[in-house]
Amino acid sequence: MTASGRILNPLLAARVVSAEEAAALVPPGANVGMSGFTGAGYPKAVPRALARRIGAAHARGEPFRIGLWTGASTGPELDGALAEVEGIESRLPFQSDPAVRKLINGGRMHFVDMHLSHVAQQAWFGFLGRIDTAVVEVAGMLPDGRLIPSSSIGNNKTWLDQADRIILEVNNWFSDGFEGMHDVYYGTRLPPHRMPIPLVAAGDRIGEPYLRCDLSKVVAVVETHQPDRDTAFAAPDEISRAIAGHIIDFLQHEVARGRLPARTLLPIQSGVGNVANAVLAGLNEGPFEGMSAYTEVLQDGMLAMVDKGTLAHASATALSLSHAAAARFNANAAAYRDRIVLRPQEISNHPEVIRRLGTIAMNAMIEADIYGNVNSTHVMGSSIMNGIGGSGDFARNAYLSIFVTPSVAKGGAISCIVPFASHVDNTEHDVQVIVTEQGLADLRGLSPRQRAQVIIAQCAHLDYRPALRDYVARAARTAPGQHTPHLLDEAFSWHMRYLREGHM
Ligand code: COA
Repeated sequence: MTASGRILNPLLAARVVSAEEAAALVPPGANVGMSGFTGAGYPKAVPRALARRIGAAHARGEPFRIGLWTGASTGPELDGALAEVEGIESRLPFQSDPAVRKLINGGRMHFVDMHLSHVAQQAWFGFLGRIDTAVVEVAGMLPDGRLIPSSSIGNNKTWLDQADRIILEVNNWFSDGFEGMHDVYYGTRLPPHRMPIPLVAAGDRIGEPYLRCDLSKVVAVVETHQPDRDTAFAAPDEISRAIAGHIIDFLQHEVARGRLPARTLLPIQSGVGNVANAVLAGLNEGPFEGMSAYTEVLQDGMLAMVDKGTLAHASATALSLSHAAAARFNANAAAYRDRIVLRPQEISNHPEVIRRLGTIAMNAMIEADIYGNVNSTHVMGSSIMNGIGGSGDFARNAYLSIFVTPSVAKGGAISCIVPFASHVDNTEHDVQVIVTEQGLADLRGLSPRQRAQVIIAQCAHLDYRPALRDYVARAARTAPGQHTPHLLDEAFSWHMRYLREGHM
């Protein structure tokens, strides 16, 4: 047994080295598949050591960059450290780090923004190139070499299976209670051999609690003791409470119409952030109980619902918790194990399962246009914010697809309802409901011209309604086509004005 007491396999115990020695095994130009999803379960020591090595190489005038693949966003010790030394040539499939964002938007790093459910299968199809090295955080290693995952699973199964060499970080900050929380499904096949995924309820377990690992590929094991990044949790403000209120009224209305089960609704999916947490807080106070969540991240708001019993089961691929909630979770992990299951992201976000369960998807956006096209990723059409993440996986396949945003950004200088979205991630065909603090637009069954009327009346800020209505009226008079009437030269000048006025 080694210092951490978590490495029970002798072969793996013999591979323990320092983070520097492990980082020395990553060659320049390698594609590196690292663990990590929404700031959970990412390696904490090797990426920093690798960043130091890259920084030193650059100081000597030697080129050294890697392709960095993960589950989703990580933490400052990974994305932040590697961005600081400009050590990333290409990044996929999601990021939310300010330093990474700056390099991408400055044209100094490539970013491949992908649906999170697509990543593993595209790696298996061979579309992404070869993975040289996997760097994966785990909570422990069994005597037979199987691995206990930590606070996220993401794409770890795929990285471990596909990489030529494996570096493992064993983090004994995670309590013993994490063992048994995970459900790793090894039944996915490549077409034409695919079979249905046998998951029919959010809490189902269809796989095994451990990651398998070919021990002959493990070149280094590094011991750590460190919590995940703090995903700070702000108390709901007036705007997020108003948005939450509209959604809860709407869900109750759907229950009254017989379109949702009265007590439990249908499994919910929620993005992260303040609005999402406010909606979850509202649901936790509402009339619903024994609900389930089929989602990609379990945030503070959902943990509170599990604590109260509002949520009977929650399925995700990662935690995304504040430090206080993470400590509570860690101390009580064994008790949460029956109600919370963490899965690979190819399953947590799988279109087949999301459609089968009838998920209610709630995601935040940057802007929506008057016809219901949603921009989740780009500020002013050309600068990336984070990435599409799981929003597309859920929106297209959900029973109900809801997008939320405050009606204005930057203190009211920018309307989040615009004539023409400056970038489209989720199309009008995948967006059923739009909510701002102003109100809720139910777009189901409406044509584009009908949608424009409802979105402006229900969701646009009062200050912007006249300009939007004027646009619609003139488009109705002069646009060449009257299915989705647009004045294209003017549509773009809407965003150009913000840029001219220096709001961005
Ligand atoms: N124009 C310009 N900037 C805008 C804007 C708009 N229409 N709308 C928002 N912004 C800016 C905000 O001002 C803020 O900027 P700041 O960081 O400089 O303060 C930033 O975008 C984030 O906006 P905020 O209102 O704080 O929203 P958020 O934290 O809820 O994030 C998204 C919103 C869309 C960026 C975020 O939800 C996201 O990345 N979504 C895509 C991924 C996803 O949906 N995953 C789902 C599963 S977890």
